[in-house]
Amino acid sequence: MARILVTGVAGFIGSHTVDLLLAEGHVVAGIDSLRTGKLNNLTAARQNAAFTFQLGDLTEAGRLAALVESFRPEAIIHLAALVSVQKSIANPALNQRLNFDATKLVCAAARAETGVRRIVFASSAAVYGARQDLPLAETSPCKPLSPYGAAKLDSEALLLECAQTRYDIVVRCHRYFNVYGPRQDPASPYSGVISRFADAIAQKQAPIIFGDGEQTRDFISVFDVARANVIAATEPEVQNGVANICTGRAITLNQLLATFCRLRGATVAAHYHPARDGDIRYSCGSPFRAGRDLQFTASVDLNAGLATLG
Ligand code: UD1
Repeated sequence: MARILVTGVAGFIGSHTVDLLLAEGHVVAGIDSLRTGKLNNLTAARQNAAFTFQLGDLTEAGRLAALVESFRPEAIIHLAALVSVQKSIANPALNQRLNFDATKLVCAAARAETGVRRIVFASSAAVYGARQDLPLAETSPCKPLSPYGAAKLDSEALLLECAQTRYDIVVRCHRYFNVYGPRQDPASPYSGVISRFADAIAQKQAPIIFGDGEQTRDFISVFDVARANVIAATEPEVQNGVANICTGRAITLNQLLATFCRLRGATVAAHYHPARDGDIRYSCGSPFRAGRDLQFTASVDLNAGLATLG
């Protein structure tokens, strides 16, 4: 049993991570500003006496330090973020505060004397930019194309530097690929494509495909992502490092929609719109390092994962 602090706990990935931590018997404190997170995501967690929730913005002066001081976590899973590439372009200052300054505060709060021994950080495949050398390995050069990707890459560097030179802590940076699953909010056109397709099919509307639908993505279930987070935060042998959290398998959007239709017994034709500016054509990660460093392999296959959606 460990004491774990989760930032961004009411978000899509945060809430699944806390559910798994609690199921495994850990004691969890969570903080979320509810800027994009939702209290509803924590309905089950909040019924568990091993969970405490704090509403607040962790970048407010003194807030995170006070929470770490009072809760005394052994690990911090830092998931709080401005999760939208588009918003990071529209509001670079907000991106800087939520995606980089917050990481600095997590580093500062994890000084040895507070008892924090590990940090798990939500990085992103966005750090790679539009690379052609697939599957993407962690050794591939990183050329982020957005303030979001740049802040994630800078945060990784900061955390690893902290771990190596200043603090007695282990840092794991998780480069999530395209995460999908229950509680993903389909509300914006920039929401994850699987949540958008699920929503359109439920509303009996035509899903929109940007471009020709032959772009590929490596879709990973949020249940697998939560498991990777829990392993990285709690397994004793884990060492410093960066790893893709992906399946190593990519499919096209056309194949994705066909799979969806087959599973739902629906016949839906997509509306094809012009490709989005800056859209990456092909994306697929190498899962090798997560297997080697964390003994983590994605286990939810896409058909089973799509079936867990409402
Ligand atoms: C994803 C991440 C992003 C990360 C990037 C790194 C999500 C939600 N976003 O972006 O945080 O920076 O990987 O590579 O996981 N699409 C449609 N119809 C829709 C919605 C999207 O055709 O209704 C298309 C998009 O144009 C894109 C693909 O589906 O080609 C995937 O889009 P999306 O789910 O937004 O994720 P990424 O753009 O890959």
